[in-house]
Amino acid sequence: MRVNEDRLRSDIESNAEFGAVPCREGRGRTVLTGTEADRRAREFLCERLRDAGLDTRIDEVGNVVGRWTPESADPDAAPVAAGSHLDSVPEGGIFDGPLGVYAALESVRTMQDAGVEPSRPVEVVCFTEEEGQRFGGGLVGSGVAAGELSVEEALGIEDGDGIPLGDALADIGFRGEGRVDAADWDAWIELHVEQAERLERADVPAGVVTTIVGLTRCAVEVVGEADHAGSTPMDDRSDALAAASEFVLDVERATNERRSVSETAVGTVGKLDVSPNAPNVVPGRASLSIDVRDVDYESIDHVVGRARDSLARIERERPVETTLERPWDRRPVAMDDRPRAALHAAGEAADVPTLDLHSGAAHDTMHVAQVTDAALLFAPSRDGISHNPREWTDWSDCAAATRVLAGALADLASE
Ligand code: CO
Repeated sequence: MRVNEDRLRSDIESNAEFGAVPCREGRGRTVLTGTEADRRAREFLCERLRDAGLDTRIDEVGNVVGRWTPESADPDAAPVAAGSHLDSVPEGGIFDGPLGVYAALESVRTMQDAGVEPSRPVEVVCFTEEEGQRFGGGLVGSGVAAGELSVEEALGIEDGDGIPLGDALADIGFRGEGRVDAADWDAWIELHVEQAERLERADVPAGVVTTIVGLTRCAVEVVGEADHAGSTPMDDRSDALAAASEFVLDVERATNERRSVSETAVGTVGKLDVSPNAPNVVPGRASLSIDVRDVDYESIDHVVGRARDSLARIERERPVETTLERPWDRRPVAMDDRPRAALHAAGEAADVPTLDLHSGAAHDTMHVAQVTDAALLFAPSRDGISHNPREWTDWSDCAAATRVLAGALADLASE
């Protein structure tokens, strides 16, 4: 089987025109769900799916599916599916999402060109609102496909202006019918850019993901008392920011220490709001976030526990009150052996080296993995950069990873 690198590149470059933003370095695009750029990207995809002879359908939440049912296939057999998303973050890169969608299509075209005769249909999928930049927290389309979110719930998610997702999709002509059900798939594979540097450093074009990390987000409040920065003596203060600063360092220390047990643990305080945030006022309140991730759920619990301990200590040592809430918690998701084995075998057959690694970022595949055998394949990201116009994956690496994807899909679809 020969992947056509130029054809794949041409699709991704054409897609990059939709929502293209001028930038000094790299190539950026802004494709938010339900916008004109989104409509054009989706219409172009449908056109390319039809060009390859696939039957396309759009479900009620705008998920797009193109189905290839060759003569060799039993049309009633559970299909093998692959894909990703076409939406982006504001001024995002051109590969994050589109690579997986167009590599899936290129895989089908490669099988067609090679005369592969699968016994199952193969589906190419584009999920709605993966990035969560306009509606909700992201992974919306895949959440519906996996039954984690109802169609009604998804359609009702409102953007910042109170426009529901359902209306935004109807506006661009992509509120279809029914629900794509990921449980109908025999297996699923998503190709995505790595968004880290492990593949680049190893000089390997394809990474087979073992686990997608679990993630916890906590909201922390530190309450002291706002006071005059000039007339309040040092020993009479209740400085919320000074207290919060100790906490930030404690979270970093706790995570670093945990790495001796699980080296993939990461913990971040990425958001800090100080009130009243004025140079001549002792800070009265600090609101912080914690984001903890690991392939090992116990590590997440451990770091959150240490964060609670830190707050208890700070309350003892300083005149502040604190709270910690844990509103968002997601367990790690292991990828399935069967599609992973197919990826390894395909890498060997195509003479493309592969590397096992974990995913630190969330992906639609997390949802799909709840209802069918799912795998995630990574292509290298130059310097690990993504969500940025400088995001880059060499075309030869795109093609090499697609060779692995195509081989695995052909194998799974012939079972
Ligand atoms: Co993505």
